Amino acid sequence: MPYVWLPASPVRQVDGKEFSRLCSVFKHETVGWVLPHASSEEQRQWNERISMANVLSELAFGTDFFACLLHSRPVGLAAVDRSDQPGVHIGTLIAHPGQQGAGSILVEHIVNCWPPGSLQLELVTLLESRPFYQRLGFEPMARNKMRLDVTKSPRWVRSGGRWRLTAYRHLPNHAAFIEKDEDWPTSP
Ligand SMILES: CC(C)(COP(=O)(O)OP(=O)(O)OC[C@H]1O[C@@H](n2cnc3c(N)ncnc32)[C@H](O)[C@@H]1OP(=O)(O)O)[C@@H](O)C(=O)NCCC(=O)NCCS
Repeated sequence: MPYVWLPASPVRQVDGKEFSRLCSVFKHETVGWVLPHASSEEQRQWNERISMANVLSELAFGTDFFACLLHSRPVGLAAVDRSDQPGVHIGTLIAHPGQQGAGSILVEHIVNCWPPGSLQLELVTLLESRPFYQRLGFEPMARNKMRLDVTKSPRWVRSGGRWRLTAYRHLPNHAAFIEKDEDWPTSP
């Protein structure tokens, strides 16, 4: 999917009611991406990823909700719980299988929502998603927990007044997706 560069983030903070609505839209959009006759390991993993995202969308909890939107449709959703300050707990993070980048864009947005120094992101991960979080600088802790301290991770850097993933700091503005609604990803 081609990227465009926008002056503003494609992520919006939404209230709990809107988040529930977007989770339903997400489920409806992604169900068509499930492969009906998955025979190889790769195909089974693909379907597993989609069903995991849909299960997590039903279990979403938190105090703050974020949506990464493409033409007002959700390509990524995150629920964050900050009742245990100063730590911020990511309760749910899901991304549409037809795109790349929404997971990282959401984490980058969440990182920039709280003052640096007070910010430590924590989550309990699924085994399958640990490599994703490691790429974003999360360090393993006990009992499937992972923690990110952007102030100490070489994967993060301050650039243009915000925290950015070091790998993408040379890119201008905010990554968004595509320009035309007809380019919305279609299922395989
Ligand atoms: C985990 C998830 C949110 C990642 O979202 P995404 O938008 O696909 O991730 P991104 O495209 O931002 O990936 C960022 C990087 O991690 C890598 N990555 C993504 N998922 C990965 C995985 N399962 N294993 C290894 N690497 C992975 C990408 O290749 C990318 O690396 P790059 O920048 O070098 O290309 C998404 O796969 C998902 O919804 N999974 C099902 C639900 C789930 O497991 N959620 C997490 C619960 S703990």
